Amino acid sequence: MRKKIVAGNWKMNMDYTSGLTLFSEVLNMVNDEAKGDQQVVVCPPYLYIHSLVQLSKNNSRISVGAQNCHQADSGAFTGEIAANMLNSVGADYVILGHSERRQYFGETNQTLAPKVDAVLKAGLKPIFCIGETLEERNQNIHLGLIKDQLVEAVFHLTADEFAKIVIAYEPVWAIGTGVTATSEQAQEIHAFIRAEIAAKYDATVAENTTILYGGSCNPKNAAELFSQPDIDGGLIGGASLKSRDFTDIVKAFNS
Ligand code: 13P
Repeated sequence: MRKKIVAGNWKMNMDYTSGLTLFSEVLNMVNDEAKGDQQVVVCPPYLYIHSLVQLSKNNSRISVGAQNCHQADSGAFTGEIAANMLNSVGADYVILGHSERRQYFGETNQTLAPKVDAVLKAGLKPIFCIGETLEERNQNIHLGLIKDQLVEAVFHLTADEFAKIVIAYEPVWAIGTGVTATSEQAQEIHAFIRAEIAAKYDATVAENTTILYGGSCNPKNAAELFSQPDIDGGLIGGASLKSRDFTDIVKAFNS
């Protein structure tokens, strides 16, 4: 059985005090209210990871992740953070290849492949983001593009390595826009991604891969999205900044 996950991507939001307050609220609300076996991952700015790990130490449901990392183990890369540093402060996950990093920081499938390797080498789990822009969807080139993102950035992994990664399908046109992919649109792409994984590895690897949906996911649409056979949870931006909304999305698995 593949893992069900709701991950919050705080992006560059919250100062330290408000971040700690938000996380404490999420911890309490999720503890009190979540029923199923879904895992929760919170990805704050790097600076807060250590504190959030300390707060959630005895909580088996909630883990902490980063939003990026550098591909090298260490060295003269001013301002960067290595995957093993994230491991040393207790992070479990690293989001890689988010469309904002591709758009604003020039990340490509080629530069992301070694980051995926570095994260796995450090004993962490990548949440690898893929997805198309509206223009690419309108040109009907999105399936090929999503396949390229998989082939070029993660299909070099062995089956054992691939078993440790989480895929997040985030259509760029749905991120922060309030326009969610319909559950049919999302399911179609998730099924496509799973089929590509089966073709590259095998049906068992594909069945066991957690594929998250991201893009204007909120408490109102989460249950419908998560009820789709190939949608195993969500990567949540804006709604992860409100403890009530985020917890309600976590609870969408119970409904
Ligand atoms: P929103 O939920 O704000 O659309 O952001 C999605 C996202 O980018 C998560 O990584």
